[in-house]
Amino acid sequence: MTGEDMELTTREIDVRLRVLRFDPEKDTEAHFEDYTVRAQPMERLLDCLHKIKWYADTSLALRRSCAHGICGSDAMVINGENALACKVLVKDLKQPITVEPIRGLPVMKDLIVDMDPFFQGYLAVKPWLITDPKEREPDRERLQSQTDRARYDDTTKCILCAACTTSCPIFWADEEYVGPAAIVNAHRFIFDSRDRGGRERLEILSQKDGAFKCRTAFNCTYACPRGIKVTKAIQEVKQAALFKSF
Ligand code: SF4
Ligand code: FES
Repeated sequence: MTGEDMELTTREIDVRLRVLRFDPEKDTEAHFEDYTVRAQPMERLLDCLHKIKWYADTSLALRRSCAHGICGSDAMVINGENALACKVLVKDLKQPITVEPIRGLPVMKDLIVDMDPFFQGYLAVKPWLITDPKEREPDRERLQSQTDRARYDDTTKCILCAACTTSCPIFWADEEYVGPAAIVNAHRFIFDSRDRGGRERLEILSQKDGAFKCRTAFNCTYACPRGIKVTKAIQEVKQAALFKSF
């Protein structure tokens, strides 16, 4: 990197943001508020939101924890697209940057939504290893070949950020739909050679609020910050449900 390039990435610039605000104790509906903060082009959107919260308006409500794309708590709609605020760089965003809560879940305050409906869908598919109670408990770890492990590798990467589910038009219209993230997490176990709960999960996902509500819009795949092939995983689960091929 030349000295000039270095200066361009480290020089602070004005960053204009439009943040959708809603305080249930004061507001009847959400409204945008405008802010300008000083930030370097290589800073993340999360850094800008911190600057608003810490130095301009402490009442701004948002969730975040790891700040490194791992915990999944800061998914929001940034310039119209679902993304993690801690993974998006200022230099890659057109200004003014609009920031809104993820869609399809009740807004509790500002950028914080009620995640309960999302986690209900997740828990409905039993996202844990199910073993056969009739099988003798092994006295060592359950072994698995590299090929068997690779079968579901992609869906192990999910961080439950809800970016996929809340980008899905079917979920916006029908909160009872389990949603892409739940199906991704079902896939992670259905195709695990050590698991014995595949049939049970596929029965759940064959019901009216399950995988067959998916209309293959691909929004989920585009939204996933972990690069998981969400639509492909959903298709594989549908195929397994139809042909019991797992
Ligand atoms: S599949 Fe991707 S977008 Fe969906 S919850 Fe998991 S990490 Fe987030
Ligand atoms: S704060 Fe943890 S993923 Fe962004």
